[in-house]
Amino acid sequence: MKTLKFTDGAEMPILGLGTWKSAPGEVYQAVKEALKVGYRHIDCAPIYGNEKEVGRALTEAFDEGIVRREEVWITSKLWNNAHAPKAVQPALEQTLKDLQLDYLDLFLIHWPVAQKEESVLPESPSDFLSLEDRPIQKTWEAMENLVDLKLVRHIGVSNFSIPKLEQLLQAARIKPAMNQIELHPYLQQPQMLDFCKKNNIFLTGYSPLGSSDRPEGLKAENEPVLLQDEKVAQIAAQKEASPAQVLISWAIHRGTAVIPKSVNPARIQQNLEAANVVLTPQDMAALESLDKARRYVDGTLWTMDGSPYTLTSLWEE
Ligand code: A2P
Repeated sequence: MKTLKFTDGAEMPILGLGTWKSAPGEVYQAVKEALKVGYRHIDCAPIYGNEKEVGRALTEAFDEGIVRREEVWITSKLWNNAHAPKAVQPALEQTLKDLQLDYLDLFLIHWPVAQKEESVLPESPSDFLSLEDRPIQKTWEAMENLVDLKLVRHIGVSNFSIPKLEQLLQAARIKPAMNQIELHPYLQQPQMLDFCKKNNIFLTGYSPLGSSDRPEGLKAENEPVLLQDEKVAQIAAQKEASPAQVLISWAIHRGTAVIPKSVNPARIQQNLEAANVVLTPQDMAALESLDKARRYVDGTLWTMDGSPYTLTSLWEE
């Protein structure tokens, strides 16, 4: 498996298992199955509501000798209601406790959006704190402290725009090593790809298959279905691969990490085998032509009337 090599020599397997939307009752089997068939990278977050089950699967896999802790790359994220500098370490410690780990390989600020401590998902505009009230730079200093304490090996961000990355790079003592964002042929973000390459920031693409299992409230009407795209299907047929495999392989060919979610054993295996699907420059060019700058996870959760956040301030595009 191809890896992304960090400056300290650590290697992150380029393909990992996503766990957003994996129900607590399903994620235990999914993680165990994934580790059995050879996944060595699991992407988690406390807001997914399933870290305890992921932790149970990890511990069992270690105890049964399926894999050793140091052979698996584990990412988790800081939720929006824990941006206060004093809340960062306790939030990480809760995640470590739930995952039954003593360190993470990568810890990300999940969104450039701050909420009050008591708010898990915002229900009214008063649940938010603006970035002036809760500056990212202060949250980042607390993230850096976790590296000093060896509780996390690397730190990064998620859903950050280029201007937000620029600001953070200027202020950071430890530079962000990763930006995890939505990436797939309908949302290719070429400028972000360029910017991150120049600044030694790796990218991980979430929702690589279009996340059609998102809750209805997060879906737009008549949204295009990535897994049913004709061109993707054509390329898949030529390779005797599935459309999902083409989408995963596309991400790997661009040098971005990718974390398809599945709780189905056959699809977990199929997605791992996507790493062997070879795309030609012609295939990549055909896929490049599909870009629609189409976000499935558009951030409207954070932009209700009266919120300090707008889609423009979030994505800065
Ligand atoms: P399931 O978990 O039942 O396999 P994303 O990674 O973009 O969030 O997409 C996840 C969605 O894609 C889930 O509905 C998941 O269903 C489905 N999925 C995962 N792998 C495949 C695959 N190989 N073929 C078709 N659908 C898949």
